[in-house]
Amino acid sequence: MTKWPGSLFSLLLAAFALTAHAAPDGAAAASIVQKNNCLSCHAVDSQVVGPAYREIAKKYRGDATAPDKLFAKVRNGGAFVWGEVPMPPNPGISDADLHTVIAWILAGAPDH
Ligand code: HEC
Repeated sequence: MTKWPGSLFSLLLAAFALTAHAAPDGAAAASIVQKNNCLSCHAVDSQVVGPAYREIAKKYRGDATAPDKLFAKVRNGGAFVWGEVPMPPNPGISDADLHTVIAWILAGAPDH
């Protein structure tokens, strides 16, 4: 077996960790947004009542505070970021599911 230099190995590990973080499981996230009725107001690619998930990803690209901000926003509801129509609070979705969905949206709502 080839002996890999340690630094290359840790670089690969880091890249793997980054990918795993940046590309959440699209299928799992899609079933969460369906189960929690998010899709009655949102679609991946088009504006419905609320903004398209891919538009949300564009708006917050590079914003390190976005995950926490959006977590609180979806949990508590609110308006005036995209328009005057408010998003109602979403008390029913679990913290874990909401984290998964926010990470997925911010990653551009990938299919897979
Ligand atoms: C009744 C309709 C409705 C439902 C249900 C709904 N949303 Fe929204 N959502 C909106 C509207 C309207 C906005 C725009 C609010 C604004 O302009 O601040 C929004 C905004 C958002 C944003 C961007 C927030 C911001 O401040 O930029 C995210 C992320 C989001 N929704 C995710 C979700 C998720 C996840 C769910 C399901 C748990 C969900 N929404 C359910 C209507 C809805």
